[in-house]
Amino acid sequence: MSRIAIFASGSGSNFQAIVDATKAGTLQAKVSLLVCDKQEAKVVDRAKKASIPSFVATPQSFHSKSLYEEAILEKLQEHQVEWIILAGYMRLIGETLLRAYEGKIVNIHPSLLPAFQGKDAIGQALQAGVKETGVTVHFVDEGMDTGPIIAKEQVHIDEQETHESLQKKIQAVEHVLYPKTIQALLTGGNHT
Ligand code: GRF
Repeated sequence: MSRIAIFASGSGSNFQAIVDATKAGTLQAKVSLLVCDKQEAKVVDRAKKASIPSFVATPQSFHSKSLYEEAILEKLQEHQVEWIILAGYMRLIGETLLRAYEGKIVNIHPSLLPAFQGKDAIGQALQAGVKETGVTVHFVDEGMDTGPIIAKEQVHIDEQETHESLQKKIQAVEHVLYPKTIQALLTGGNHT
């Protein structure tokens, strides 16, 4: 069974959806490690509850980004991690991890990329007044939300849509699409 690490910085609802999918058997993978850059993030509690080891460290406590990533890399190797799954990890992945995990790092973004890259993609879509937005799963490269696309799903924006209601709809799609896409990736089959 493939061993994956999830990187997250916040609430971790996608972390939870992935862990639940492994428990249900719809995702045949082992979540071997959580990597988190915020001590107080809710995702850290989720990992604890699920008995998943976590590595929580702030980059500020290292002299450089590459030293921070080397510390992460050591943990990944210790846990024999094969894939890195970003789920609300609010940092760019640097050269150290990109080189070690080439073609094995994926991210989920709450827009139909290449539209609305970067922070608050949901707010950006509302601001732009578009009728359709969605979710994209993609490979990670050195850019922000720029790697090759693996899967996309549309979400309609209603007349009365608020940031909160749209976020809810998008996350509901993410929680199904992400585990499903990871499963397809790990088994080398069709991605959607
Ligand atoms: C998700 O909407 C994901 O698309 C984005 O960050 C959010 C993380 O949410 N990259 P959560 O922490 O998984 O609830």
